[in-house]
Amino acid sequence: MNSATIITVFNHKGGVGKTTTAVNLAAGLCLGYGKRCLVVDMDPQANASRALLGIEATDAQQTMRDVLLNEGPVNRSIVDVVVKTSLPGLSVAVADLSLSEAELKLTSRMSRELVLRECLGPAISSFDFIVIDCAPSLGLLTLNGLAAAQEVVIPCETQFLSLRGLRYVLDVLNLVKARLNPAMRVLGVLPTKFYVLSKANNEALDCMRNLKQVHVFEAVVPRDVRAEEAPSHGRSLIEYAPESRAAAQYRKFAGEVIALCQG
Ligand SMILES: Nc1ncnc2c1ncn2[C@@H]1O[C@H](COP(=O)(O)OP(=O)(O)OP(=O)(O)O)[C@@H](O)[C@H]1O
Ligand SMILES: [Mg+2]
Repeated sequence: MNSATIITVFNHKGGVGKTTTAVNLAAGLCLGYGKRCLVVDMDPQANASRALLGIEATDAQQTMRDVLLNEGPVNRSIVDVVVKTSLPGLSVAVADLSLSEAELKLTSRMSRELVLRECLGPAISSFDFIVIDCAPSLGLLTLNGLAAAQEVVIPCETQFLSLRGLRYVLDVLNLVKARLNPAMRVLGVLPTKFYVLSKANNEALDCMRNLKQVHVFEAVVPRDVRAEEAPSHGRSLIEYAPESRAAAQYRKFAGEVIALCQG
């Protein structure tokens, strides 16, 4: 039976391109390789849901909150919150702001970090890849995202401060691997928001490439105004502006991910 590879996109730092990476990795795997992909929105900001479905994503009757809490008389399965996007093969398990309530309520549950891992079960056989988009925090929702991961991708801006934060990200991942998820593997760091004319960006990229502890992807996502525009059109960048430089790098990135996962 088919079993999806679960990839979590993580960095505790905000605005580094996690959601853009999750959405375009999934879209790239669908478009380039014919894979069936599910993006699981684990951020109460619900940016992945909106980026893939447009503003109507917030009108969903049931969301990841209901799946994680499973409070009512009827069992809510992840398949109840999976919505197909306009790209064939690409779906999203939607979230909204109420997901932050789930974070609070899960605190008192037994094995509270492992709830998402269990919830993904019914979707595993329907997809080739499940890509989890995390919030910019190290709260319980994010720990659930990491505990469910087989692979982790770390988007990191090509900037000095982001690079410093990366050491902390790697420490956290080592801790999660030791305590929660021994099978988890860090696939690598994806340099994002690279501005080729910036000396500081180039220096940061060189430093990243010299890191010994972690693989750094060949793809480097440039700063690109098309990447900023895509979410408001409810489509991935790869569909919205396939000719853009950032879309090309996301396609390259998807190819690297698939090679690492299958290799
Ligand atoms: N390569 C890029 N070039 C220009 N803008 C980008 C690029 N990638 C992402 N952005 C924009 O930067 C902002 C933050 O990106 P994104 O939402 O992907 O980051 P994030 O890490 O998920 O943020 P958060 O921590 O809030 O969840 C968004 O407005 C997005 O459109
Ligand atoms: Mg995000």
